[in-house]
Amino acid sequence: MFNIEVFDIKLNTEFIGRNFVYAEELSSTNSFLLDKNSNYNYNGTVVLAEKQSAGRGRMDRTWYSQKDQNLTFSILLKGNKKVNSRINLINFAATLAVAMSIENLYQQRTHLKWPNDVLLSGKKVSGILLESISSGSRIERIVVGIGINVNQSIFQGKFNIEPTSIRNEINDMVDRERFLAEVLNNFEWLLKKVTENGGFILKEWRERCNMLGERITVSDGTKTQYGIFEDIDESGFLLLKTKEKVERIHFGDVSIV
Ligand code: BTN
Repeated sequence: MFNIEVFDIKLNTEFIGRNFVYAEELSSTNSFLLDKNSNYNYNGTVVLAEKQSAGRGRMDRTWYSQKDQNLTFSILLKGNKKVNSRINLINFAATLAVAMSIENLYQQRTHLKWPNDVLLSGKKVSGILLESISSGSRIERIVVGIGINVNQSIFQGKFNIEPTSIRNEINDMVDRERFLAEVLNNFEWLLKKVTENGGFILKEWRERCNMLGERITVSDGTKTQYGIFEDIDESGFLLLKTKEKVERIHFGDVSIV
């Protein structure tokens, strides 16, 4: 059982998580916050579900997470001009918030896989699904969905990348309340950087990405491209150096060849 009071004591934010919704079960925390008719409209609202019956991942995958063991939650950001043009950097900020929290609390080295996976010992510990609702050209709601394998010890099934949990890597149970508060504290701090100093986000992201300069494939579900992972650009898109030119990749799955 998640102890909201313990979590609240550790939360040190101005707005992220100040409106906190706890649910035993939801279909998906992202779907819950994306619903325009939802009563939850405060910027920074966080919805945590102990179980999702239809947890979603990137590229139409399912996100599996054992009840009561992990953290599956979404953060609502109300659109404004400053954040709208920096959606990918918000993605990176969320990934970095998870990575930095693991590093600070458990002294583990993390790696980031483009666009938004967090890896421990080369295995996936967290994934992020950012979705938004627009009205015309205006983004009204941005929902940052974060799944973190925290205390689950056994993973069954077929996975795109082998999963792990923080517990499996540190050989100890993790205090979920403290960890979630740390992630949200870091996320709010990094979100400020997104608008004030995007270069900081890119620098921190590059430092943890061990695929830069490697020969990779990028697959978007319909086509696969080969090349060298040259860099990310100022918006967070992947720059793939192919034989002919440098391609700007907006989305896909990356693998080292
Ligand atoms: C991925 O790696 O493909 C992204 C996984 C994102 C999973 C989280 S769990 C909380 C939120 N609600 C969802 O339905 N998905 C995201």
